[in-house]
Amino acid sequence: MSATPAVDRKKITLQTLQAKKARGEPITMLTAYDYATATAVDRAGVDAILVGDSLGMVVLGYATTLPVTMDDMLHHCRAVARGAQHAHLVGDMPFMSYQAEAAEAVRNAGRFLQEAGMEAVKLEGGRDVAPTIRAIVAAGIPVMGHLGLTPQSVHKLGGFRPQARSAVAAQRLVEDAGILEDAGCYALVLESIPDRVAELISRRLDIPTIGIGAGAGCDGQVLVVHDLLGMFDRFTPKFVKRYADLHTEMQRAFASYIAEVQSGAFPAPEHTTPMAEDDYAALVAALEPHAD
Ligand code: KIV
Repeated sequence: MSATPAVDRKKITLQTLQAKKARGEPITMLTAYDYATATAVDRAGVDAILVGDSLGMVVLGYATTLPVTMDDMLHHCRAVARGAQHAHLVGDMPFMSYQAEAAEAVRNAGRFLQEAGMEAVKLEGGRDVAPTIRAIVAAGIPVMGHLGLTPQSVHKLGGFRPQARSAVAAQRLVEDAGILEDAGCYALVLESIPDRVAELISRRLDIPTIGIGAGAGCDGQVLVVHDLLGMFDRFTPKFVKRYADLHTEMQRAFASYIAEVQSGAFPAPEHTTPMAEDDYAALVAALEPHAD
């Protein structure tokens, strides 16, 4: 894999994602919350970047996503937008930015595009949020839905646990997926539901499904980048595959730095700015008459 930017890569739009579903090509999405990560993820060739409210847990250290604010989201979205050139950019609407009133939801969704460089928003929920989704889409803002384990409802769900495991719950979820498509969603995240249910939904819908803990039958996959890289030390959801152990690697690097500063090995001459001998002599001469 090349580490340099793919200069001939085209900008990914929601139409690109829909065309990928039509061709049966898997869609890739990753989260990013800062400029450096967005640059790396974008250069690796991902289709879409989600600035997820998961940043509340993996970046800001909260126990849930509930404390995340619009200001938090817009701050991180701006950084990601500065780093990503090709990927389709999705901003996650935080808790209470869209639940109370549709008009407030439209205004908040608009801020993601107007102030933070995003190209779409994502929000959680089924039939209850369909009218809000309609209002946001009517304002010209693409909406990605999110069903299954919806972390903003963690207290209602009784924890971060898999959803739609019974026939009754799965039927309601399948119906919700259809309702969100009808409401105008251009794609749907399916989180932590049985793979058979996710596959069934993916076959029934024209819009792409993007799964996380929802099996291989989805039209695409998304992971939280801190989970993928092994940077989040509190827990790793069962559905995550770790592709690196950066937490351990970071600790190793930090410990080496501390040891080298303590031993005097860092900084070495190559890490410092040299001064010509005669300039330094002139400096000392100029200071000497005033020396104590
Ligand atoms: O906030 C987030 O990162 C998400 C993904 C887990 C889909 O919603």
